[in-house]
Amino acid sequence: MINLAIFASGTGTNFLAIHDAILNNELNCELSIVVSDKPTSLAISNAKKRNLNTFSFSPKQYVSKEAYEMDILTQLKERKVDFIVLAGYMRLIGPTILNAYENKILNIHPSLLPLYKGKDAVGQALKDNAKQTGVTVHYVDSGMDTGSVIMQESLEVYKNETRESLESRIHKIEHRLYVKVINKVIEEM
Ligand code: GRF
Repeated sequence: MINLAIFASGTGTNFLAIHDAILNNELNCELSIVVSDKPTSLAISNAKKRNLNTFSFSPKQYVSKEAYEMDILTQLKERKVDFIVLAGYMRLIGPTILNAYENKILNIHPSLLPLYKGKDAVGQALKDNAKQTGVTVHYVDSGMDTGSVIMQESLEVYKNETRESLESRIHKIEHRLYVKVINKVIEEM
């Protein structure tokens, strides 16, 4: 069985969608651990409610990124994690984890990369009056949303669309697309 780790900093709806897909046998892997840099995040409390293994940490309590990533790595190795899925994890992955999981880390981003990299991609698209935007799943490298693209899906931005409406339509696509890509990656492993 392939062991998966999910890293999340926030609400964790993508984490829940992936876990639901595993529970429904739509994904043939095990969710071995949920990792978060926000001990009080909804993602962590939901993971605990679902009796999943968790590791949360406060980056401020470490001297460096290398130091906290070493602790994460210990957890990943203990759980025999094969690959990592970032789901709203708001930190760049450093060389400590990147070198240990080369080409084995995925991220999802709410835009058609390379457009609207970084924070608030939905806000960037709205500000830009974009007529379409979308969702990208890509491999993670040392840059911010720069790794090679695996799959994208676009959607139209409606005239006068609110942020709430666009975000909610994007989330729906994300939940479906992420499961599809994880399935593909597992099949190729
Ligand atoms: C998603 O929009 C994802 O694309 C981005 O962060 C958001 C996380 O949402 N990387 P959630 O925490 O999974 O609800």
